Amino acid sequence: MHTPAELAARHFETYGAPATVFAAPGRVNLIGEHTDYCDGFVMPAAIDFKTMVAISTRNDGRLVVHSVNYDERIDHPLPTFLDRRFQELRSHAETLWSDYVAGVLWVLRQHGIPVADGFSMSIEGDVPLGAGLSSSAAIEVATAFAVLGATSFDLPLERIAQLCRSAENDFVGANVGIMDQFVSCCGAQDHAVMIDCRSLQYTLAPIPPDVRIVICNSMVKHSVAGGEYNTRRAEIEEGTALLRRHRPEIKALRDATVDDLKQWGSEMPENVLRRCRHVITEDNRVLSAVEAFRAGDLARFGQLMGEAHVSFRDDFEASCKEIDILVELANKQTGCFGARLTGGGFGGCTVNLVAADRAEAFTNAMRNGYRQATGIDPEIYISRASAGAHQIVIGQ
Ligand code: GLA
Repeated sequence: MHTPAELAARHFETYGAPATVFAAPGRVNLIGEHTDYCDGFVMPAAIDFKTMVAISTRNDGRLVVHSVNYDERIDHPLPTFLDRRFQELRSHAETLWSDYVAGVLWVLRQHGIPVADGFSMSIEGDVPLGAGLSSSAAIEVATAFAVLGATSFDLPLERIAQLCRSAENDFVGANVGIMDQFVSCCGAQDHAVMIDCRSLQYTLAPIPPDVRIVICNSMVKHSVAGGEYNTRRAEIEEGTALLRRHRPEIKALRDATVDDLKQWGSEMPENVLRRCRHVITEDNRVLSAVEAFRAGDLARFGQLMGEAHVSFRDDFEASCKEIDILVELANKQTGCFGARLTGGGFGGCTVNLVAADRAEAFTNAMRNGYRQATGIDPEIYISRASAGAHQIVIGQ
């Protein structure tokens, strides 16, 4: 990947205009899966992988975007392009990388940010695609920061996260929660972020210096723009609606308990009951995990990660053979506190909490073991928790 200065130089060569460069990270979720859109709790961290957007303003009303990764360029008159693309996506056009950029502009325009004069952008990222590490949130948040920076608009980080989520929900059509965009905005170096997805209040928890977050990529592609994610959401909504008939104060599964399920779960189809059980127990696990983390009890934290994986696999049915192999392998390694599938599910990566002095040995054992079991070469990243989105000042 180019450095920010190189990206700015390429931008100048392409467009003849000096650029400002912004970056936004991907994320890994330590615990709390499919709880965000149920108003629940999550505990992700921003990671070292990021998307950069170099931007300059135009005055011909066009949106010109060059993707370095795809070596592709789009060039359209702004308002008509956004409206046309919105309609095409409603008629099930295939999602393109540029839709995440267009979606953010579409949402910002709706919120009164003056985008009509146009922008030139150069985009490059190293968040692995389809790996469940939020490459889409990184491109959305980097785009939003770039456009807000270029138009000198200041918005609170929480608001930027909400707008980026809306770009993905309402423009791209993926019904995701707020977690990824939120942590991409609010992440902090060497910290996990504990988010209450109802109030959007968050606290930072320092990652102990003697542990590493190791991410193992199964290389099985995952996509939230695909059907399974939205199907799970529909199942959750069905279960929530049923519980609400009995207890009207249940606005989201965050408000429901395991006892509610014991009492009324038999009225739900089996699959709906399981999905709800995953979410309700996962919220409890996140709260316990936060306490364990604060107390420095990594063994307990790891145990909760293990339980979260079993629930994600059996009740939410969102794991796959390759991911389960990675988790089982990890559980056998000395120095591994816990391992689980991270992100939306159906492939992607596992997240592993590993003693720092065992991280190297862990990585080797995982690489060999996974290759032997599946014939696939995994990618393994020893990642550090990194800062949220920001402007990169070149030459400093
Ligand atoms: C994806 C979504 C998030 C969240 C996770 C599952 O990453 O973008 O909003 O729902 O899946 O926890």
